[in-house]
Amino acid sequence: MNHPAFPPCPALQVTARVVEQELMARNTYRLRLHCPEIARRIVPGQFFMVRPARGSDPLLGRPFALFDTFDDEHGQPVGFDFGYVTVGKLTGLMPSWQVGDEVSVWGPLGNGFPIVPAETKHLMCVAGGIGQTPFLAVARELLTSRRYGLPVRDVAADATKVSLCYGARSAEYLAGLKEFAIDGLDMRLATDDDSRGHHGFVTELLRQSLASDSPPDLIYCCGPEPMMHAVQKIATAASVACWLSLETPMACGIGICYSCVAKIQQDDGEWDYRRTCLEGPIFPAAKVVF
Ligand SMILES: Cc1cc2nc3c(=O)[nH]c(=O)nc-3n(C[C@H](O)[C@H](O)[C@H](O)COP(=O)(O)OP(=O)(O)OC[C@H]3O[C@@H](n4cnc5c(N)ncnc54)[C@H](O)[C@@H]3O)c2cc1C
Ligand code: FES
Repeated sequence: MNHPAFPPCPALQVTARVVEQELMARNTYRLRLHCPEIARRIVPGQFFMVRPARGSDPLLGRPFALFDTFDDEHGQPVGFDFGYVTVGKLTGLMPSWQVGDEVSVWGPLGNGFPIVPAETKHLMCVAGGIGQTPFLAVARELLTSRRYGLPVRDVAADATKVSLCYGARSAEYLAGLKEFAIDGLDMRLATDDDSRGHHGFVTELLRQSLASDSPPDLIYCCGPEPMMHAVQKIATAASVACWLSLETPMACGIGICYSCVAKIQQDDGEWDYRRTCLEGPIFPAAKVVF
């Protein structure tokens, strides 16, 4: 399965306006920005950088993945949602952003998830924590009439079963469950403390699915590094194609600063550093060196 090494569309820097803000789960919000320029171009798995439109604190933007785009009354994409967890400086400020506030955004960035080949029988998305957000657009592209990108991506995987295994520390951190209530999406939850779904790691749900009558033949994964490392090992042992969406810290998002490098295996079998913002964030699991 080939993947374009560089972004399918050049990035733009724009000033966007906050349209909506919603608490989705503990310390977890959905922010909706009016931003037609990026909404028209972005595809599932791509991301954008966000920072306040004014001032220099924080100085650097922070990367966030597309949750989904939304349309105007004519069916044209005019903005997008992303989910965020409050962990530090910028995400700590973001809950105070009000409707109408201006935000500086640049994107779409990165490569996005590859288009699912039509012959795929079962796509399994494995998510940990806030790593579930990129899979809403993946699922809607495959299971609904929602389309993404400029030109619009041609998706012909009608016969593909789509599952999402989503794990969190506890039920109070499970975010976006109402958005993921999509006809045809096989959703399985796991919590570390047994407060909802399977008691234990989300990787155990992946193992169960691989041992079932309809095992996945393609895996997409996003979440904490130890979880992605475990998924890489499981997919390799089962000989199933797998792609990981890396979340390395980033400063520029456009390939200039090299703050985002990850160790990626090259054609000669040796690893070298690759810029996650430009050549990722999505890499074949078999190439990622943890
Ligand atoms: C491609 C990509 C997509 C992402 N999508 C999302 C998303 O959709 N929703 C979301 O909530 N987060 C997402 N992240 C992570 C998000 O960018 C960080 O949580 C954010 O930068 C934190 O900013 P801050 O100013 O609040 O924290 P800071 O004050 O900058 O940092 C707080 C603490 O978090 C650590 N930290 C910061 N970034 C990361 C990181 N990427 N990995 C591990 N530790 C980190 C810092 O080292 C520090 O200890 C994504 C990251 C990448 C690279
Ligand atoms: S974030 Fe600057 S090169 Fe990737």
